[in-house]
Amino acid sequence: MKRQDPILYIEGLTTHFFSKTGVVKAVDGVSFSVSAGEIFGIVGESGSGKTLTGLSVLGLVPPPGKIIDGSIHLNGIDLTGMDASGLRRLRGMEMAMIFQDAMTALNPVLRVDTQVIEAIRAHRPMPRHQALKEAAAALAQVGIPAPEERLRAYPHQFSGGMRQRLAIALAMINSPGLIIADEPTTALDVTIQAQILSEVQKLSRSKGTAIVWITHDLTVVAGLADRIGVMYAGRLVETGTTDDVLDNPLHPYTRGLIGSIPSRTRRGLPLAQIPGSTPSLDNLPAGCAFIERCSRARTACRENPAMAETTPGHQVRCHFPGGELP
Ligand SMILES: Nc1ncnc2c1ncn2[C@@H]1O[C@H](COP(=O)(O)OP(=O)(O)O)[C@@H](O)[C@H]1O
Ligand code: SF4
Ligand SMILES: [Mg+2]
Repeated sequence: MKRQDPILYIEGLTTHFFSKTGVVKAVDGVSFSVSAGEIFGIVGESGSGKTLTGLSVLGLVPPPGKIIDGSIHLNGIDLTGMDASGLRRLRGMEMAMIFQDAMTALNPVLRVDTQVIEAIRAHRPMPRHQALKEAAAALAQVGIPAPEERLRAYPHQFSGGMRQRLAIALAMINSPGLIIADEPTTALDVTIQAQILSEVQKLSRSKGTAIVWITHDLTVVAGLADRIGVMYAGRLVETGTTDDVLDNPLHPYTRGLIGSIPSRTRRGLPLAQIPGSTPSLDNLPAGCAFIERCSRARTACRENPAMAETTPGHQVRCHFPGGELP
C-alpha cells in the first residue's frame, strides 16, 4: 500500500436508532478518511454523534442502533458488509478503540500482565515469556515507569493517568493500523493529559498508526491533530487541516467553538457562548441543523446545505460560510 492511501475511508456513514417513539439520527452521512501516521480529530458537543461514529467503525453499535447507509473501508476492505466474527478478528489486531473510562478495556480482577499477555496471544501465538517482554516494552512506550513491576499489579493499583496509559498500551499492543480514541484523557488533569497526547503523537508517527481522536474540547485536538472534523447534530460541518480550521474557521458553529476558548488576548473579556443548545437528534429542524442557533441564518438555510470544498482540503457545510469574524 502506498503511504498516502487512507487506512480508514468512510463515506456517507449513517447510523440511526430505531424505537417506538421515533428515529434518532445519531450519525447522518459522515465522510472522512485517515492515512497512516495521521491524527484526525473529531470535535463537537456532547450528543453530536462522535462516539457512535467510532462504534460504527468498530462494529460495536449497540441495539437498537443500526448502520443503515454508507461504507467504511479499512485497508481497502468494506467493514459494513462484514459479519460479527470477521469484525471480532479485526478488533485488537487491525483496529482498536480507547474509551474515556479505561476500565472498559480492563478486567478489575485480573493482574495486568495476564490481561496484556492474553491480548497479545489472542492474535499472535507466542510463548508466555516472549509476550511478557513485549508487554513490558509496550508499557514503557506509553511512559509507565518500572513496567516489569507494574505488570504484576492490578488495574486499581494504577492512578487514573497511569490506567489510561495502560488502556492505550493495550490498544496498541498488536500495532493496529487504526486506533479510535474516544475522549480518553478528558477526566485527567491538564498536565497529564498533555503528556499522554504527546506520547500518542510520537507513537502514531513512529508506528504509522492512523488515529481518530474524539473530543468535545477543541484545545485538545488543536495541539494533537493533523486534521480536524467538526461534528454537529450527527453530521460533519467542517473539515480541514488543523491550521485551516483554527486560523480560518468557515462554519458559524466552528467559529462559536473557537470564540468560547479562553485566550490570553481576550483575558478579562467575557467568553462568547453559542446561544441555545444542541437540537435533539430525533427531532432535527428542517434544513441546516444549526439554524436555530445561527446569527447568520437566512431563508436559504431552510434548505439543508451540502458539504462543499472551499479551498483544497477545506470543506464546510453552510450556505454562508466565512466572512468577517464576529
Ligand atoms: N443506546 C442508544 N439509544 C438511543 N439513542 C442513543 C443511544 N446511544 C446514543 N444515542 C443517541 O445518539 C446520539 C449521539 O450519541 P453519541 O455518539 O454518544 O454522542 P457524543 O459521543 O458526541 O456525545 C445522541 O443523541 C444519543 O442520545
Ligand atoms: S447554513 Fe445558514 S443557518 Fe446553517 S450554519 Fe450556515 S448560515 Fe447558519
Ligand atoms: Mg461520546
